[in-house]
Amino acid sequence: MATDIRSLAWHEGGLRLLDQTALPQRIVYLDITEVDALIDAIRRLAVRGAPALGAAGAYGVAVALLQGEREGWDAARLAGEVKRIRDARPTAVNLAGGVDRVLPLVPAGVDAVLAEAAAVVREDVEANHAIGRNGADWIMSRVERRPLRVLTHCNTGSLATAGWGTALGIIRELHARGVLELVYVDETRPLLQGSRLTAWELEQEGIVHLVQPDGAAASTILRGLADVAVIGADRIAVNGDTANKIGSVGVALACADAGIPFVVAAPLTTFDDATAHGDDITIEERPESEVLEWGGVRVAPAGSRAFNPAFDVTPVRLISAIVNETGVREY
Ligand code: MRU
Repeated sequence: MATDIRSLAWHEGGLRLLDQTALPQRIVYLDITEVDALIDAIRRLAVRGAPALGAAGAYGVAVALLQGEREGWDAARLAGEVKRIRDARPTAVNLAGGVDRVLPLVPAGVDAVLAEAAAVVREDVEANHAIGRNGADWIMSRVERRPLRVLTHCNTGSLATAGWGTALGIIRELHARGVLELVYVDETRPLLQGSRLTAWELEQEGIVHLVQPDGAAASTILRGLADVAVIGADRIAVNGDTANKIGSVGVALACADAGIPFVVAAPLTTFDDATAHGDDITIEERPESEVLEWGGVRVAPAGSRAFNPAFDVTPVRLISAIVNETGVREY
């Protein structure tokens, strides 16, 4: 069952990650005991999704502490290694948030850090279930058509979180309530998080879905084939501007034009009090090879360069509602 999928867990003195680059073909676990390996896993998207990155950051401090004990690091070296984890990806605020949450426990030792990291995981799963209920309530009260046709972008499920999922948690809840017809799953560039990961999770739940190219999303919405779009978030600014996987803002524009709700789902850990507007959010740019190559084979001409932003920012004026574990903010 998809509900049992765990993107990460502390296992025999290290951080065990379900390698999301190998799914759905292979189930591969990475046992992380060194900071370099964790940073590599984060950058390659072996662990990804904002809340999962938050948990990985929290456990990453324990990884650094244990490596430091083995290798005799001083306090400055430990702080530097922890900062490298914190900065491994810039857009998802949860990564820094997870690190910062456990840092005060470092003087108390690795067991205290691990206990706090476990709390990060537990609270995220609880928050996601509440988001699922809140989001399903809101959508069912605002959208008349039954059964519902939902469009989603990227992967926001158990894999992207500590468990259950945010936008995908709402979709699971709608399915459990018997009101869901199907889900349009944007394939999601560059690593096909939609067609590899979201489709895998939906298939295990028995939820009917159609994987579509990202470029089809606006047309699907304008043709009246979807009733609502639900996405996750990597960072939500104080004014509600929302950074999420590249392609999200195009979905929002189409929803606004078609007059259907565009719903963002995220736990409070993704809301960033230190960022006033979306313009202030750092957008990660990823390697050109992810765009210029396909399956490791160069497809673009040798002289071509690529622009590969991993995220975009949807201005709050295009967002109908932001769902968190405490309720729904309407815009
Ligand atoms: O680059 P990724 O795969 O980490 O991007 C993930 C997303 O954009 C998700 O929508 C977001 O992190 C929310 S996950 C619940």
